[in-house]
Amino acid sequence: MNSPSASAAPSIPPASQAGEQHALAKPPSVALALVQRRAGEAVLAVLSGNNADTALARVNTTGFDGATRSALTDLTYGTLRFLGELRGIVHQFVHSKPEPLIEAILWVAIYQLSHGKTASHVVVSQAVAAVETVNRGAKGFSNAVLRNYLRAPEASLAKAIERDEGMWNHPTWWVERLRREQPEWWEPILRGGNGHGPLTLRVNRRRATVAQVLDSFAEKKIEAEALSETMIVLKRPRPVERLPGFRDGVFSIQDAGAQLAAPLLHAKDGMRVLDACAAPGGKAAHVLELADCSLLALDVDAERIKRVGENFARLGLNAEVRAADAADPKSWWDGTPFDRILLDAPCTGSGVVRRHPDGKWLKRESDVAQLAAQQKRLIDGLWPTLKVGGRLLYVTCSVFKLENGVQVDASLSRHADMRRVRVTLPGDPASSGGQLLPGGNRKTHNHDGYFYALLEKIAL
Ligand SMILES: C[S@@+](CC[C@H](N)C(=O)[O-])C[C@H]1O[C@@H](n2cnc3c(N)ncnc32)[C@H](O)[C@@H]1O
Repeated sequence: MNSPSASAAPSIPPASQAGEQHALAKPPSVALALVQRRAGEAVLAVLSGNNADTALARVNTTGFDGATRSALTDLTYGTLRFLGELRGIVHQFVHSKPEPLIEAILWVAIYQLSHGKTASHVVVSQAVAAVETVNRGAKGFSNAVLRNYLRAPEASLAKAIERDEGMWNHPTWWVERLRREQPEWWEPILRGGNGHGPLTLRVNRRRATVAQVLDSFAEKKIEAEALSETMIVLKRPRPVERLPGFRDGVFSIQDAGAQLAAPLLHAKDGMRVLDACAAPGGKAAHVLELADCSLLALDVDAERIKRVGENFARLGLNAEVRAADAADPKSWWDGTPFDRILLDAPCTGSGVVRRHPDGKWLKRESDVAQLAAQQKRLIDGLWPTLKVGGRLLYVTCSVFKLENGVQVDASLSRHADMRRVRVTLPGDPASSGGQLLPGGNRKTHNHDGYFYALLEKIAL
């Protein structure tokens, strides 16, 4: 068999073949071996605490064109999505732990072999070439690992899935926690977290109707379907900037679960509304698209808050935007109470790992309690700023109870003037307590995992 070197003719598969989302129009610009190595570097950067976007921004992509960058992203995300089983497989074939980057290149290659469509001889020869660029001496070893795997892939997978991490592709503590907390739903939650989220759009009804957007897509042969009067789902994901109307603020990307926030908040014309944790501004923009209210958008992160202003400008919306700690009203509040407060709180993001598989490996179990403490501080800090008769919508994109039902029950017991208003959430059978499962029922309500609690201030 020929063994192409790292500088041999390009043989990267289209990313769609690698099992992830972007379709590529052109052949890639550099050899697969280099992309595998860079994906290994990005995966290692995530394991040492960087999110995937930062990790990918830091790897050296000199000479990569757009298509190759997409392939790199796909390999990195795919490897992170299935990291539990990939680690379990590689572990079976190594007697002493290899250098981290070599092990990571093997995870990437096995991801391609098990979930991609590139010919296995190409994946193996390129991965061995990638390993050679790290350590010449490890060439034979990595070739042997990959060939051993290919001899009996099913048996290797069967062994890897004997352990929770391999079976569910989530950290063991995460699986154990969900099994304990959600005896009925832990399996659908984990399975949903390993799926792919569709590209869902929210039409800016101040600029267009769903029918108009669908017509403009049809003209460009972009297949899409309406899910509601403001929601569209694309048959195949594609870069949003290339969709007609995006730059003109005709629509935004927003998951179907996130699109429930603004209707549940139900702000009306003339109301004074606070979005306490607004960046990058998706839910706040939706509120402003639905009502002529006076909205204050806060976020503690001075960098992220800039994106709120950019989003409002693209969509033609007006609101006051400020960087501030929402839990400390004396630093930003003028004393006039709000009719509505949206508290989309910082959380583990355990409900959105199908879009952010890096989140599974970045979080520690201790983060759950630490984030729950931040959420409590925000609820308690904001409660005095709500009018009597006003409503605060508490939202997380988590599936852990400490951040959701337990958090809300504890708030209700601390605040005598707080009551929970029953809301109906569409989609999946678990939603009665406010929890939307990641993946939903897949067909009509394919959303991320969200939690919603609507809290009203009553007169004492
Ligand atoms: C889930 S995100 C919000 C997403 C946003 N609502 C949207 O739909 O685009 C949570 C946000 O809370 C912000 N945050 C965290 N602690 C905060 C605090 N004490 N005050 C204000 N914002 C905070 C984070 O910077 C982050 O942008």
